[in-house]
Amino acid sequence: MAAINSVTDLTLDGDIAVITLNSPPVNALSFNVRDGLFEGFKAAIADPKAKAIVLICEGKTFIAGADISEFGGAQKGASLFEVQTMMEDSPKPVIAAIHGTALGGGLEVALVAHYRVAVPSAKCGLPEVNLGLLPGAGGTQRLPRIVGAEKALEMMTSGSHVPAKQCLAMGLVDSLAEEGKLLEGAVAFARKVLEQSMPLKKVRDREVTADPQVFADFRKANARKFRGFLAPEYNIQCIEAACTLPFDEGLKVERKLFMELVTGVQSAAQRYVFFAERQVWKIPGIADDTAIIPVATVGIIGAGTMGGGIAMNFLNVGIPVKIIETKQEALDRGLGVIRKNYENTAKRGRLTLEQVEERMGLLTGSLELEDLADSDLIIEAIFENMAVKKEVFGKLDKIAKAGAILATNTSALNIDEIATATTRPEAVIGLHFFSPANVMRLLEVVRADKTSDSVIATSMQLAKKIGKIAALVGVCPGFVGNRMLFQRQNQAQAMVMEGAMPWDIDRVLYDFGFPMGPFAMSDLAGLDIGWNKDTSKGETIRDRLCELDRRGQKTGAGYYDYDENRNAKPSEITEGIIKEFAAKTGRNQRDISDEEILERTIFPMINEGAKILEEGKAIRPSDIDIVWINGYGWPVYRGGPMFYGDTVGLAKVVERLKHYQSQMGDFFKPSALLEKLAAEGKRFQDMK
Ligand code: 3HC
Repeated sequence: MAAINSVTDLTLDGDIAVITLNSPPVNALSFNVRDGLFEGFKAAIADPKAKAIVLICEGKTFIAGADISEFGGAQKGASLFEVQTMMEDSPKPVIAAIHGTALGGGLEVALVAHYRVAVPSAKCGLPEVNLGLLPGAGGTQRLPRIVGAEKALEMMTSGSHVPAKQCLAMGLVDSLAEEGKLLEGAVAFARKVLEQSMPLKKVRDREVTADPQVFADFRKANARKFRGFLAPEYNIQCIEAACTLPFDEGLKVERKLFMELVTGVQSAAQRYVFFAERQVWKIPGIADDTAIIPVATVGIIGAGTMGGGIAMNFLNVGIPVKIIETKQEALDRGLGVIRKNYENTAKRGRLTLEQVEERMGLLTGSLELEDLADSDLIIEAIFENMAVKKEVFGKLDKIAKAGAILATNTSALNIDEIATATTRPEAVIGLHFFSPANVMRLLEVVRADKTSDSVIATSMQLAKKIGKIAALVGVCPGFVGNRMLFQRQNQAQAMVMEGAMPWDIDRVLYDFGFPMGPFAMSDLAGLDIGWNKDTSKGETIRDRLCELDRRGQKTGAGYYDYDENRNAKPSEITEGIIKEFAAKTGRNQRDISDEEILERTIFPMINEGAKILEEGKAIRPSDIDIVWINGYGWPVYRGGPMFYGDTVGLAKVVERLKHYQSQMGDFFKPSALLEKLAAEGKRFQDMK
C-alpha cells in the first residue's frame, strides 16, 4: 500500500492499480482530494506493472461532489479540470467504482472514467441546481451525451438521485457489482476490459441532438416551479449547448454560466441553506449522549384538522397513534378525514390500498383521556384556550406514565404557564406543527423553562424520523415564525389604510418570491377565521368583507373577486370599502412605492428576528431562516430573512428602519443587536 497523500492510497491488485480515496464524511473534492487524485493517477499511469486503474472510495459514499465549504475561497492544489484530463486521457482503462452517492463533481469525475461499475444501492445525480449552481466540471456536456436531452433536463433541474439500476438502463453505469463486493466487481470488470481489449470510451466523443421544441416545452411545463430561480434556466441552456455545439464549445458555455452562478447571490443563499439545514439539528449544551426516550406509541388529544394531520406523521412511519376526542361524532369525523386523506393519496398512486389499511390499522380512537396511560408521547391539539389547556395538562399529569413526554401544539400560548398545571414541567414541551401538519416540513420544537434535555433531544430526533425539519425555539408570543409574521401583517394592514391596495402588496411580495401575498393568502384560508361579529369595539375591513359574504375564495369573493376558475381579480368593492375606512379615520391615501412596500413588510421582520436572537429565543440566525423557508414559503434563493438582511447590508436595514421610525414611530425602532452589528460592519452570519 502506497500512500499518495493523507486521503489517497495507491495499491496493485495483480495488474490492476487501485486508487482509494478516504476523506470523510463524504469524500468531497477538497484540494487535498484533488491533489491525491492527480498524483494517484499520475503514479498509476507511470507504473509499468499497472494495466488498468480502478478508482474507489472508503466510507459511506463515493465522491459526493465539490467541497461546498471551499467555494468562494482561493483555489489551491490541482484543479478538478486537471484531474479529469489526466483520467480521461489515461492510456490505461480507468474504471470508477461507485457506492453510496456519486453526486455533482463526484459524478463528473466518474464521467471521465472510461467505464463505471456500481453496486445496486448506489445512486448518481447532478444536484448542483439545489445549490443554485450547474455542474461545472463538464457534467452538463457529458450527461446529455449519455442519457439524452430529455432525461438530462429532468435530472439536472431536479437534482434527483437516480438509483443504480436506472443508471444501468440509461447507460450511465456500465455494470452492476454485487452489493458489498464493489472492489472485487470493479477489478473483475477491469480485467474483462483488458482481456477483451475493450475501447477506452470517452463520453466527450459521443454526440447528442434534440428537437428545439423539447426545450421550449420543458420550460413551459416547469415555469411555475422554476419561477425566480436562475439555476434551472442556466442548466437548460447548457444542455441546449450540448445539443448544438462541439464539446469544447459547450464546455465554454458551461464555464461562463457556472461562474455567473457561483459568484451570484442566489447560489450563496442556497449553499448557506444547505449548511443551515444541517446546523439546525445541533443543540449547544445538549450532550451527544443525552438519554433518548423510546417513543413506541403516541397519543393525540383532539381529532380536528391539526390533530389528524399530526397523527398521520406518526402513522406514516409505523408508530401507533391513539386519538382522543370528547364526542363520538367528532372522533368519527376526525378518523374519517384521515382515512380519506390516505385514500386520496392512494388514488394519486402514491400509496397502495394495502398501505392505507396498514396505516389505518395503527390508528385507534377513544373518548377517554385515561386511555393515554401507556403513551410515550402525548400531543395536545385542541383549540387555543389557556384555561382548557391547563385543565387537560392537569389531568394528563395524573394519567400519563412516568417518563412520558407531554407536548402541546399551541401556536400562541405560554408553554411555561401550561407546564405549571403539571407536577412534571420537565416533561412538557411545545411541538408546533404547521397546517396541513402531514404536509408542511417545518416543526417548531418549543423549549419551555424547565423542559429536560432528554425531552428536547428526543423531540428533535423524532422530528427527523417523521421527515420534518425542526428548529428549537423558546417560549415567546408567536414563537419564531408567527412572531415575525405579525410584523409583516401589521404593516400590510397599515399600508392598506395609507393607500396601497391589497393587490399591490401581494404583487410586491409575490415578485419577491413568496408563493402568494398576505391578502391572497387570507382569501385562500377564509376571511371568517377570526371574524369578529361583535363590531361594538370597532369594525375592520375584514369584518365588513365577511358581512358582505365576501369570505374568501370559498364564497367567490374576498379581498379579490374570483371567477369560476378561482382566478383573482382586484375588486372595486374592496377598494371602495378601503377608501371609506380610510376617510372615516381621516387618513389621506397616497401612492406607496413598491420599494416602500417591500421595506416595510420585510425589514421589521429582520428586526424582530434580531430581537428573537437577543432574547435567546432562537439558537442562531440560520435557524430563523430555516423556519421561514420551510414554514412560510420564503424563497430559498433569498436564503431566509436573516440572510436577506445580510445581503441588503445591516447598515442599510438600520438606516431604513430609522427613516420609518422618524415618520411612523417606534414600531420601526431598530433592536440593539441590529444596531450593534450594523455599527461593527458585521452580518448575522458573523455571529458566533
Ligand atoms: N461539501 C462539503 N461538505 C459536505 C458536502 C459537500 N459537497 N456534502 C456533505 N457535506 C457535509 C455535510 O455538511 C455534513 O457535515 P456535518 O456533519 O458537519 O453537518 C456531512 O458532510 C454529512 O452530510 P449529510 O449530513 O448531508 O449526510 P447524509 O448521509 O445525510 O447525506 C449526501 C450525504 C447525500 C452526500 C448529502 O450530504 C448531500 O446531498 N451532499 C451534497 C451533494 C451535492 O450537492 N453535491 C454537489 C456539490 S456542487 C459541485 O459538485 C459543483 C461541481 O459541479 C463543480
